[in-house]
Amino acid sequence: MHDPTKPDLEESVNVTEAHERVLRGAAAASRENRLTENGAEPVSMWVMALCFIPVMFAGWTAFGYGTPLFSYKDTVREGYVQVIPPDDDGAKAEPMTAVLAYSKKGAKIYSKCSGCHGPDGKGDGNAYPSLAGSAFAQGENERFAMIVLNGLTGPTSYGKTFGVMPAQGAGMSPEDLACVMTYVRNNFGNKVGDVVSKAQAAEAIKISAGRAKAGAAVTGDELNADHKKTLSGAAVKADDMVDPITLEAVAK
Ligand code: HEC
Repeated sequence: MHDPTKPDLEESVNVTEAHERVLRGAAAASRENRLTENGAEPVSMWVMALCFIPVMFAGWTAFGYGTPLFSYKDTVREGYVQVIPPDDDGAKAEPMTAVLAYSKKGAKIYSKCSGCHGPDGKGDGNAYPSLAGSAFAQGENERFAMIVLNGLTGPTSYGKTFGVMPAQGAGMSPEDLACVMTYVRNNFGNKVGDVVSKAQAAEAIKISAGRAKAGAAVTGDELNADHKKTLSGAAVKADDMVDPITLEAVAK
């Protein structure tokens, strides 16, 4: 009896033939490579492109400019002599005047000061005095050095006390001190026109350690009574030509 819930059988289909066709198709499909299960399936181009990125970074890290892992500059074949360029980019550092070379280095050390005295050295007129035009910064260099090394509790050269400047000497080498002082004395409109030498800065560090109140911030009175002097270490002339990296004198 005809069941109305099932579709009519298509009388024109030869069931045996159709069955064989299905079997042939299945057999053909089973002869094809199984693409997803043997581990050798092709990888999408995008995956390859993505894999290339870390490879590029690895190469850059290992062989790139200025990296320590491997550098052609450091490897020399036996029997060959390598000329080491004087600084990293291979260009010889041009000599410059001492006042410029010290100031350039000093500008970096000045980052210790700029938080309070401002990048323009003008202070804020309220809590922090200006170094531009400061008589203590521009006057006798021993007095200035004592402020940097020990801090200051006032009164300042402006006659009033702004607050307390904490000592800045910790971790400062003579070169750091010499350079930051030279920078302050010759920037922000200050034009002392001299260099505080490394030898003078080294002397200042000694004097600072030998103060009666070593460790305590200096007062304006102590500065003027004891330290209104020029440091006696070997001086460097402002327009002497020096190597900007070593600060050593070079022949003109
Ligand atoms: C944490 C804030 C602070 C930092 C950092 C600081 N100072 Fe000061 N500085 C002061 C204050 C505040 C005064 C004023 C102190 C007072 O009123 O006794 C002062 C005063 C001075 C003075 C005296 C100015 C004058 O004419 O009387 C000089 C010079 C000076 N600082 C230089 C420096 C240098 C150079 C550095 C960096 C190496 C530096 N200061 C870092 C806060 C700071």
